[in-house]
Amino acid sequence: MQPVPRLLLIEDDPGAAASLKRLLAAEGYAVDIAADGTAGLAAAQEGVHDVVLTDWRLPGASGIEIIQSLHRSHPRLPILLITAHGSTETAIEATKHGAFEYLLKPLDMEELLAVTARAVASHRIMVEPVGLGEGNPSQDTLVGHSRAMRDIYKEIGRVAAQPVDVLIRGETGTGKELVARALYQHSHRATGPFIAVNCAAIPESLLESELFGHERGAFTGAVSRRVGRFEQASSGTVFLDEIGDLSLTTQAKLLRVLQERSLSRVGGNEVIPVDIRILAATHRDLEGMIAERLFREDLFYRISQFTIALPPLRQRPEDVPDLVRHLGRRFGRELGIPNPAFTPKAIQLLQNQPWPGNVRQLGNLLRQLLVVARGPVGADHVRAAHAKGDRPTVEPETTLDALARQILAHARENGSDDAHARLIAVAERALFQVAMEQAAGNKTLAARWLGITCFTLRERLIEMGLKDSTGN
Ligand SMILES: Nc1ncnc2c1ncn2[C@@H]1O[C@H](COP(=O)(O)OP(=O)(O)OP(=O)(O)O)[C@@H](O)[C@H]1O
Ligand SMILES: [Mg+2]
Repeated sequence: MQPVPRLLLIEDDPGAAASLKRLLAAEGYAVDIAADGTAGLAAAQEGVHDVVLTDWRLPGASGIEIIQSLHRSHPRLPILLITAHGSTETAIEATKHGAFEYLLKPLDMEELLAVTARAVASHRIMVEPVGLGEGNPSQDTLVGHSRAMRDIYKEIGRVAAQPVDVLIRGETGTGKELVARALYQHSHRATGPFIAVNCAAIPESLLESELFGHERGAFTGAVSRRVGRFEQASSGTVFLDEIGDLSLTTQAKLLRVLQERSLSRVGGNEVIPVDIRILAATHRDLEGMIAERLFREDLFYRISQFTIALPPLRQRPEDVPDLVRHLGRRFGRELGIPNPAFTPKAIQLLQNQPWPGNVRQLGNLLRQLLVVARGPVGADHVRAAHAKGDRPTVEPETTLDALARQILAHARENGSDDAHARLIAVAERALFQVAMEQAAGNKTLAARWLGITCFTLRERLIEMGLKDSTGN
């Protein structure tokens, strides 16, 4: 269970403080109040808060002093500045000094809640460690022991602490964001900010100014200067998610940041140096986009020098049992199910699915299964959930060569020499099981189809654990 996010509100007007606290508490936040700048700074230094919201004009230390001081001592702590209308220049200064966002009075409560939620999420992303490999106590852990995933852990270890930008590729739901966080947390910039920008979620017209900032009057509606995310993330890391969705103009500007480590705000001439590391991610086929002139080749070469490519889940079915255990526990905790269990048949069936949405899709299905099944989740629960979602269930016998691949991969990785025996055993077991199902338990009939005696069938069923010696 995630602990309740804790906010620090620095506000000298007791009435305003109380009503803001009420609003935020109703959203499930724990809120501490400090009534002046000095007390606020002292409270924030304790390091127990997820986000600080501070008024601008305060007795003791002022809003800007708080931001400067906290940004130096706690660069990862998001600070929201609340300031009176008309003082946007100050607000801009504040962002330059590291404030996460500023809000103008009179406060738009919906905006306040949205920005607060974003700041809390941003803080959690920075401070919650991403573990590598199962057995790690951390909630956000990359699991999977396939050769491919073990190589990914090694690559993260190798590249994280290097002063290089990294491109993370992989289909949707393969864990690109988790890898970005792990890279950040294992880097020398781990104590600095991590600012994530989802390039696909921000309208094209706003994205440039979001990233690079703009000068007053740069375009209609640019009533004041804005400091962009790159500038704001000074000495930190910017995670450009969905980089394949950038327009060609923005790509050109990004290339300049990568090559020269400097930028100009939209509508400005000043060259502003930036000290940031860029981690980028995409699920798109960038080479195909280059051929169609939708992605700049020079940017591609610059950003792809260090690439981590996450394999789709269907290429590593041996990771499914680890993921089921790990995600099952995670969702079990969320849903209040202490020991979520999945039968071996259910896991086998899950290993057979193509998972176009990869680990995220597997996770969503597991959560759904845990809600529906009382007790252990079986293969029939999986089939029913697929039918409900109008998706066919890929049954094990339809993918014999996937099984062969899996068994061979296992043999290769473990240096074992039983691939032939294992495949025969699995195939034989499936054949016997289906024969018994189709013969509705009639051994004479099943034995005839299989071309063996009734006695041999009985023996084999016991050996395979499909029947016990009493015939049940
Ligand atoms: N190897 C893994 N081990 C444990 N959890 C994983 C793993 N890979 C992905 N997940 C989980 O799957 C979900 C999707 O992961 P993530 O958001 O990192 O994917 P993504 O590649 O960024 O997807 P998208 O392209 O759709 O943004 C998350 O809940 C993440 O915790
Ligand atoms: Mg993502």
